[in-house]
Amino acid sequence: MDNNINSKLKELLEQIAKLEEENAHLKSKKKYGLVWDLPHDDRLIELEDNIVLLSEVKKRSIHSDKTLPWNYVLEGDNLHSLAVLNHTHSKKIDVIYIDPPYNTGEGEKWVYNNKIVNKDDGYKHSKWISMMDIRLKASRGLLKEDGVLICAIDDQELPRLLLLLEDNFRGYSITTVAVRHNPSGRQYNVLSNVHEYAIFVVPNIPKYTEKNSLQIRKDINATKEEIAACFKNASDEEISKFIKKYLPDEKIDVRSLRNSNRLDHPTNPGKRAGGKSTMFYPFIIEDNKIIGVGDVCEHSFHPEKATIKKGNHYYIYPIDSHGNERKWLWNKETAEQNLDLLIVKKKGKDSFDIHRMKEYILPKSLFLKSKYSAREHGTKLLKNIFPESPTVFDYSKSIHLVKDCISLFIKDKKDALVLDFFAGSGTTAHAVLEMNKDDNGFRRSIMCSTNDEKEPIAEKYTYERIKRVINGYKNGKKDVPGIKGNLKYFKTELHPLPRTDGMKSLTAKKMADTICFENNTFIKTIEEKEFLIFEGSNYSVGIIFDEFKTDKFLKKVSKSSAKFKVYFMSFSAEGFFEELEVNQNIIECRTVPVPLINSIHRIYRELKA
Ligand SMILES: C[S@@+](CC[C@H](N)C(=O)[O-])C[C@H]1O[C@@H](n2cnc3c(N)ncnc32)[C@H](O)[C@@H]1O
Repeated sequence: MDNNINSKLKELLEQIAKLEEENAHLKSKKKYGLVWDLPHDDRLIELEDNIVLLSEVKKRSIHSDKTLPWNYVLEGDNLHSLAVLNHTHSKKIDVIYIDPPYNTGEGEKWVYNNKIVNKDDGYKHSKWISMMDIRLKASRGLLKEDGVLICAIDDQELPRLLLLLEDNFRGYSITTVAVRHNPSGRQYNVLSNVHEYAIFVVPNIPKYTEKNSLQIRKDINATKEEIAACFKNASDEEISKFIKKYLPDEKIDVRSLRNSNRLDHPTNPGKRAGGKSTMFYPFIIEDNKIIGVGDVCEHSFHPEKATIKKGNHYYIYPIDSHGNERKWLWNKETAEQNLDLLIVKKKGKDSFDIHRMKEYILPKSLFLKSKYSAREHGTKLLKNIFPESPTVFDYSKSIHLVKDCISLFIKDKKDALVLDFFAGSGTTAHAVLEMNKDDNGFRRSIMCSTNDEKEPIAEKYTYERIKRVINGYKNGKKDVPGIKGNLKYFKTELHPLPRTDGMKSLTAKKMADTICFENNTFIKTIEEKEFLIFEGSNYSVGIIFDEFKTDKFLKKVSKSSAKFKVYFMSFSAEGFFEELEVNQNIIECRTVPVPLINSIHRIYRELKA
């Protein structure tokens, strides 16, 4: 009997210990935020025993202008592309723009672990979160310090995406912009949906946290003179009609240059107090044009009204209609520097005011312009590019939307690098080419796209669209001229993780395309058994396969006027070769393939954790 009780007690104590352990585990788990089932991502599991290399499909290369840099299409699952990019382009990307599957389960079919995720899949949210979480984690290290991620999404996964972004992008601010992408509306839930979102994930650095840092310049030059002419005699209604006609989507910001704060003091109503204001001076006008800016007025000088006539000239002071002295928003110096932004407004006979046009505006969090319609400027544009196809890719974005989103961050960066790892029909690459055409820029794009079992999207749409945009295409009878640009097409390939020296040596021989992609060096100038040399615009790349046979290579280097980056085969991550490192023409030495193996494995371990 005693024995029986003892063994029961032992059993109970064991159960209690187990429960306590479980309780401690549950307590240690996340209590706030996104919690989901973690189905394995097969594409990630593949990285346990494999590495990813790039292999160029040479026949797909397009070279239309030698002065411009290369754009790229990487074919394969984007997780594999991101794994390679972590090795080749760590901290090199200015903007990541992505438009992932929205997980609606309607029409749009997305594939997870080789299976389509349907509307009625009980784990569809968990699968989507897993898929996105891993890819967001794999992409964040690619961004430069001031790099930005923009993600398109609709209501289906918006709540989960926001939490995921918050989790993965600490130190960034996340702004949601509503985009009217479908002006005619779609019965989606209870209401007719006309909008989706663009989420801006922007690092909290002074460049972006300073007030008005994302201001955009309005294209007002063309209309400025006409508006000014109109202002001469026009009423406010006429002015606003005029503005709407020329700037239908957003009103240009025109307002009085006079500050509405009174300069006076309660005991001295209507007059300036506390010394002279540097903002109190007259504008001098003749024939409704500002011809000069007068000196800052002495404290004792108080003009009797806002407009004072002197011969042919009028002097305009910042005085309101009640005779109160106020001040201009700008000091004399700023006013003189920005005369072209100022307009004379006639208020009555011999009475004028000075108005200022705001040349810069802060973009609003509602993108309402008609040019953002996905049907008009996405699908229809694709139909024009692919007139022979009865059906085209269904989920393309408006090219103007992508262009406006990325322009906010790279309008002044003419050499920016843009990545889209859900590239679909390649709208992002098209937008980058258009931006370069507009301002003679040399921005580049990397498009990651799949050829999955359903459709060869990468070659059929991503590649083919960029090719046609570069080469030009026929839209009905109209020839659409090409936009200058260059393109290289790579496939991602899995190779068994090289564990022996022999395998490492073989892998090094397969790395040439990946190294060329990393360095933008594609002109093979020398091919020997022991080494290869590729020429690039800034430097050349040498790949040495036999660490003991560097003499021949060094002879070539010494004869060349180019600078060299050298990759040499070694069984370790770091190697030291005095003969290479002392050569004046060699700017950098690295080993292959161990650093690549290590970085792919590091990504695998981080994502698996
Ligand atoms: C909504 S579409 C993007 C459309 C694109 N923004 C455009 O304007 O054409 C999403 C794309 O992501 C691709 N995709 C989904 N999962 C992927 C993966 N794991 N790797 C690469 N591409 C993937 C799909 O094939 C689809 O083409």
